[in-house]
Amino acid sequence: MGWNARGLCLGLVCALACVSVVAPNSYLLSILTSPFVQPDNKVWLFAISGRRKPFQFLNDIGEIEGFNVDLIKEVCEVAGKDCKMVLSEFTECTFTSRNINYPGRGLMAGWFDACPGYAISVDRLSAFDFTLPFVQNDATFAVAPGNPSGFDPSAEDFSSFVLTHLTGAYTNAACLRRLHKTFGDIIIARDLPEAKALLLNGTAQAIFSPRSAIPDLEVLPDHVICSEGGAGMMVKKGSPLPDWWNPAFRSYFRSGRFHSLCRRDGRKYNRTINCV
Ligand SMILES: *[C@@H]1O[C@H](CO)[C@@H](O)[C@H](O)[C@H]1NC(C)=O
Ligand SMILES: *[C@@H]1O[C@H](CO)[C@@H](O)[C@H](O)[C@H]1NC(C)=O
Repeated sequence: MGWNARGLCLGLVCALACVSVVAPNSYLLSILTSPFVQPDNKVWLFAISGRRKPFQFLNDIGEIEGFNVDLIKEVCEVAGKDCKMVLSEFTECTFTSRNINYPGRGLMAGWFDACPGYAISVDRLSAFDFTLPFVQNDATFAVAPGNPSGFDPSAEDFSSFVLTHLTGAYTNAACLRRLHKTFGDIIIARDLPEAKALLLNGTAQAIFSPRSAIPDLEVLPDHVICSEGGAGMMVKKGSPLPDWWNPAFRSYFRSGRFHSLCRRDGRKYNRTINCV
C-alpha cells in the first residue's frame, strides 16, 4: 500500500467514526423522541408477607404460593404485564401508630408496587389507593379456646374487655366506632404470635381481625363488616397500577375464569375463599 492509499484508509476510518458519533442512531432517536412514560417493560412487584394461608404464603419447600399469587399471575397475563412476587414484612405495607394506620415505608418508597388482599376501609382511603376488590374478608373476633371470658361479639359494649389487633389492621378503633361499639383498652400487637400470647395469658380477651381461622384459637361465628366492598390491591396514592389492573380484572371476571380460580383454589387449599 502506498502512502496515498494508507492516507485514504485512515481518512475513511475517521469519517466513519465521526459519523457514528454525531449521527444519532435509531436507538438514540427513539429515546430522544419518545414521550416520558413508564417503560412498558416495567416489572410490577407485589409484596408477599409469606404467612397468610391460603392467600399468600411460603410453602414447606420455600416457594411463594396462594390464591392471591395465582390471581396476580392470571390478571397480569390478561393485561400483558410482567409481574413478580417479592417477600416483604407486612409492616412495610402498613402499620399502626397511636391508633392511626400509616402507609408503610416499602410501599411509599417504591420497594414494590402493591400489597395484595388488603381491605378497603374508610381510614385506609386516607393513606392508599386501591384496585377493585376481589375478596370479601369480613371481620371477626377470636378468643381463647372455650371463650373463658364469655366475650359476646354481638354486644354493644365491649368496655369490660381488653381487645387486641395487629399493627396496620383495619379492624381497629375507627371500625369499632363505625359499628357503634363502646370499647375500653385496645392493645396493638406487633404480629399474630404476640396477639395470641396476649389472649392465652389473659392480658386480652379477644383479637379483632379479618381472619376466619386462627390456629389454636376459636374464631367466633359473628361477622362484622369494616370494609368498603372488600379487599383489593393496596397501592401508593397516585399509582398507575389500577389503570391497567382494573380493566384486566374486569375482563378476567366476566370471562368466568375468576370464579373458576376461586373454586379451584378453595379445593386446593381446603378453605372457602370469599370471592366477590
Ligand atoms: C402476656 O403476653 C404478652 C405478650 O407476649 C406479654 O407482653 C405480657 O407480659 C404477658 N403478660 C403476663 C401477665 O404474662
Ligand atoms: C379440610 O378442612 C376441614 C375443616 O376445616 C377438615 O375437617 C378436613 O380434615 C380438611 N381436609 C383436608 C384434606 O385437609
